[in-house]
Amino acid sequence: MNKELIINPDARYRIAEQKATNYYKSLYEQVVQKTYVPTLIEDIHMWKHNHIRHHSFLSFFSRGKGKPGSRGYHNYIQWLNYTGKLDNYLDRSISYIFMRDLGKALDSPDTQNRIQRIVDSLKTNLTNSNATDRGDNDGMFSMARLYRTAQKEGVESAMIWVVNKLKTVSSNLPKGMDAEQAQRKLIKIIAGVIMQEIEEMDDDISSEERTLKLDKAIRLGYSYGLTYPFIDDLLDAKILSDKEEKQYSDMIRTTLTTGSVPEFGEWTGENLDLMRYVHSELREAFEYIKEHQRRETRQNFFEQSYVFFNSQEVDRVKDLSNANYSNEELYIPIILKSSSSRLIVRSVIGAPEDTDFDNRTFFYGIYNQLADDFADMFDDMKDGAVTPYTYYMKYHDTRKDLINPFELYWTVISNLIHNVYDSDSKTREVILDRAINGLKRFRERMGPEKYNEVMGLFASGIPKFNRLLQDMVRKADDVDFFDKLLRDHMITTLKNERKEQEDFINTSKTLRNQINHILNIPKVENMSLMEDTIMDAANYSLEGDGKRLRPIVTWFMGVNAYGLKSSAIEPLLRSLEYMHTASLIFDDLPSQDNASTRRGRPTLHEMHNIAISELTGLFLTQKAIEEQTSLNQFDSKTVLKLVQYSAQVTADMCRGQAMDLDSKGKQLTREQLNMMCFYKTGLGFEASLIMPAILAHAKELEMEALKKFARHAGIAFQIKDDLLDVEGDTTLLGKPIGKDEENNNSTFVSILGQAGAKKEMWENYCIAMEALQHIPRNTTFLKHFLNYIINRDH
Ligand code: IPE
Ligand code: IPE
Ligand code: MG
Ligand code: MG
Ligand code: MG
Repeated sequence: MNKELIINPDARYRIAEQKATNYYKSLYEQVVQKTYVPTLIEDIHMWKHNHIRHHSFLSFFSRGKGKPGSRGYHNYIQWLNYTGKLDNYLDRSISYIFMRDLGKALDSPDTQNRIQRIVDSLKTNLTNSNATDRGDNDGMFSMARLYRTAQKEGVESAMIWVVNKLKTVSSNLPKGMDAEQAQRKLIKIIAGVIMQEIEEMDDDISSEERTLKLDKAIRLGYSYGLTYPFIDDLLDAKILSDKEEKQYSDMIRTTLTTGSVPEFGEWTGENLDLMRYVHSELREAFEYIKEHQRRETRQNFFEQSYVFFNSQEVDRVKDLSNANYSNEELYIPIILKSSSSRLIVRSVIGAPEDTDFDNRTFFYGIYNQLADDFADMFDDMKDGAVTPYTYYMKYHDTRKDLINPFELYWTVISNLIHNVYDSDSKTREVILDRAINGLKRFRERMGPEKYNEVMGLFASGIPKFNRLLQDMVRKADDVDFFDKLLRDHMITTLKNERKEQEDFINTSKTLRNQINHILNIPKVENMSLMEDTIMDAANYSLEGDGKRLRPIVTWFMGVNAYGLKSSAIEPLLRSLEYMHTASLIFDDLPSQDNASTRRGRPTLHEMHNIAISELTGLFLTQKAIEEQTSLNQFDSKTVLKLVQYSAQVTADMCRGQAMDLDSKGKQLTREQLNMMCFYKTGLGFEASLIMPAILAHAKELEMEALKKFARHAGIAFQIKDDLLDVEGDTTLLGKPIGKDEENNNSTFVSILGQAGAKKEMWENYCIAMEALQHIPRNTTFLKHFLNYIINRDH
């Protein structure tokens, strides 16, 4: 426990609560007196000039081009650009982010300049992104692109780290929780923390300093962001039993009030594994934040976190069947939780106090909360969650004292525009854009009927205002926001990716099974007079638990990309696995890597002896050629070409192995390492892509793209293999770890270290991904194969 730390959470909570109460009271005044109505009517009349078009004959035609549904992310941006709306669109979006996430006032010239700069660079970025960036569904979120951006900023390691973390979080989340939403939220929080950190940087900061700060912001962002899926969402998801929930909340409370995470201790309940993981991950996150806090901001951080946690807790335990909550009970925790979640961000990065930021952010929070709760009212109702909207829906008949949340929402808007942001016209523009957009989106999503019903309930008390509002919802244009587009795009992309990945895994599993069934080499002649050791040895090696990656790729390309018959290429599949297995037998020999296990069993020379192993290796390479020559559904010239290519590859792989053995103890350069890995490993992958392409008579250009992909995918594969040799698990791998060090091998890891090797792996990953764009086929499978290569654990 940290001795110098004096945390007084309850006192802090009371102060915050008092402030929230005052805010609530002032809003209450405004909502009952309906002072916001005339004010906003006037605001909307001023606002609408930029949003209601009187269509001329010509514009009628150009409208005919039609606004693409916001589904097609790239199309939509293109359309905005084409119609000249992109600048305003980006300006309103970035301005909004500056207000919401950075607590800025839009009337400051400095803020305006910053917004302008971002809008300009974003515009360049969005309109320049050419076909290369626009693969099937990647774009903004493709890992390769993100990594390229990280490289520019020098934060590759943090990026690799956080990508891994996100992956682990989503794979550990229980079924009842939405993994994509969790990832999206995390990414959003990380982005928010990065933005805040950039905002705090001096203009003349050195690039080293900037890199350090960004690196830290990514890790802090994740550490803080983790509280969303792990605390808020997990507790909301009703996965834990009451008892577990209590134990978990107590744990968090103890952490925030004492400044250190208690031990996990005994856990009674069904979710032991989940909670052990959550505890250890949160502990790591908490320690990281704490360690990176300056002493002066530490206390602030803990206390603010406590306010955040406690207000959420107070809010969470509400029960929709309780008819007696007062307005204060409903709204004060909401004011607290919605503002503290954003106030914390600055304290996470240890930024100095800024009262203007604090005030604006404090008043802003509930605006966001009410907008979100409005959008989610029916889902919340289904879940039985208490929000101002669900509560009002349920009790408005019997509880005439209840504040109408929709009216409160507009009150907050009016209060923000005039009292918090001093009637600034830009602020009015942006907030009203956002509010009208919210209604339009809701209407689109729910359909007009449901929408009218909702409005009937919530807006009937303000008829004049409501008429104007509905007029705007119907007619107003140019109220879309980039962050909403990104949000939708991100969710679609994440869901797609997951679906594709599942398909990839399932297909690979099926193929692997099928391949396992065709590998056995049958004994033909009657050799009963003698033992057929080589045959047995070959089958022993083939029967091991291999991943069969090379024939899997070949099958997929051959059958799915080139439309070859699977029965026709069966010999090719065998041939590839025979060659590969032979290479492993040689590689394991005492004269080479001297390994005692392979594919989960003793190596061949352990089972038999060295001589038998050498002969079996040779035997298998010959069997591979025999298989190739039985590709009798293809014309002989094509097959000859294939055999020639195959022989070259095999010869070159031998050279690669020799380079590898020769490099023991040497300080190879990056170039030499890349070359060696290409020869010993990359070529094997190349063969699995090129051989079916040869059979299908693919064009030279396509072959070149395939080779480029294979080269870098293969190198990435070998780097991952080198990494697994130090970080992996022998049981999963089926082969011993630590071999490279034992043999004094020169690998990416021994030369560049683990972190350096990871960067190099990612570099090759990116080049391979980029090469995919030049393959004129559906490359989804290859994309996921590449993802698999760098993410695999065996
Ligand atoms: C191992 O290849 C040899 C390397 C190129 C690193 P695999 O990892 O594909 O081995 P198996 O076929 O699954 O056993
Ligand atoms: C092997 O590289 C490359 C081959 C093509 C045989 P490694 O020596 O690192 O492979 P493992 O780790 O033994 O599978
Ligand atoms: Mg080796
Ligand atoms: Mg080896
Ligand atoms: Mg290895």
